[in-house]
Amino acid sequence: MKITISEVNKYVGEEVTIGAWLANKRSSGKIAFLQLRDGTGFIQGVVVKAEVVEDVFQKAKSITQETSLYVTGVVREDERSPFGYELTVTNVEVIHEAVDYPITPKEHGTEFLMDHRHLWLRSKRQHAVMKIRNEIIRATYEFYNDRGFAKVDPPILTGSAPEGTTELFATKYFDEDAYLSQSGQLYMEAAAMALGKVFSFGPTFRAEKSKTRRHLIEFWMIEPEMAFTEHEESLKVQEEYVSHIVQSVLKNCQLELKTLGRDTSKLEQIKAPFPRISYDEAIEFLHEKGFDDIKWGDDFGAPHETAIAESYDKPVFITNYPKAIKPFYMQPAPDRDDVVLCADLIAPEGYGEIIGGSERIHDYELLKQQLEAHGLTSGAYEWYLELRKYGSVPHSGFGLGLERTVAWISGVEHVRETIPFPRLLNRLYP
Ligand code: 4AD
Ligand code: MG
Repeated sequence: MKITISEVNKYVGEEVTIGAWLANKRSSGKIAFLQLRDGTGFIQGVVVKAEVVEDVFQKAKSITQETSLYVTGVVREDERSPFGYELTVTNVEVIHEAVDYPITPKEHGTEFLMDHRHLWLRSKRQHAVMKIRNEIIRATYEFYNDRGFAKVDPPILTGSAPEGTTELFATKYFDEDAYLSQSGQLYMEAAAMALGKVFSFGPTFRAEKSKTRRHLIEFWMIEPEMAFTEHEESLKVQEEYVSHIVQSVLKNCQLELKTLGRDTSKLEQIKAPFPRISYDEAIEFLHEKGFDDIKWGDDFGAPHETAIAESYDKPVFITNYPKAIKPFYMQPAPDRDDVVLCADLIAPEGYGEIIGGSERIHDYELLKQQLEAHGLTSGAYEWYLELRKYGSVPHSGFGLGLERTVAWISGVEHVRETIPFPRLLNRLYP
């Protein structure tokens, strides 16, 4: 019977065959312990010299790391194993021998591991992070599908720049200038007017010369957009969504969290509602904390965000930022013109901003003014403005950065480990 490691619980006491790679090995004169992985999980295979034909024992002792195998054995329950099961091996068949696998169980430097990302992905830690990423994606579709949102796919090649023109990847679109999408938002607004509640999930690109643990050049964003929705209602969706993904990971990725050594008690507290403070209050708070460098009108840097987040054990919304430091499309607050109806959601434990969102301007004249004030008069925004001409409604939306969210929930320091093949300032390989 050919099975995967994830299925062994159904075959206790039975002889099975598993296609696997050798992750690691320990052996003595009488016994060999094979650490096997097949992508679905990890299991230890035990080869006892006295219980197998001599040839099988010799083969087991000499297998090299990352050699691919068909391993046959009897499944046993085993409390000592983190996975709960063990395989008493009866036969080993080598499919392809791996010679001099570069990533050995010893410590390697980050640059070396990044150069071998195509192989590094096989390691237990990277495997755990990728499984958590997958669970967050699964829980995202579940959350929005359960609430009547339709998944809509905005284009990647665009003529517009929702988040400002300084961080664009320009390319040629035959004779026209085009850019890689920074955000699908503008298109999602059109989609919300067609389908009511929508969400997207796709890659976005920022030619940002930032080299921090929070920045990728290519990252994946989840962008919900809702018609007939005011900003306050959008904040509720955001906190419920983030609670849902955290609780889903806790429920379905216990083994992975353990592999990563994540303190799960911190994650258990992540339940809606989340605290909110206004930008004004945040500035006051920072002054009290001795951050004399920041003044009203400045954007927050990582140290500011971290200081604010440290006062809470849940993510915190910072609301109503100054209009001057936010994009053109944000709706001004009803009672004052210098701040906009927006919020950034700051994750705990120093992981920084994971969501940026806002209510969008729905008045035609106001949006036209704003486009002009930002010098966005090229005609590339004609269609976007036109959405305000035909049955315009209040609407709100937001974007959650997947990699920062994976980093926070997994407890890994740097976003480079949260995407299979990170695109960084100085890295396009592998
Ligand atoms: O705050 P941002 O720029 O917001 C937007 O793009 C809006 N148009 C979204 C919307 O309202 N539909 O980006 C949203 C999130 C950030 O909070 C952050 O989590 C992530 O995207 N992000 C990055 N993640 C990794 N590397 C980068 N360079 C990122 N830039 C933004
Ligand atoms: Mg932002």
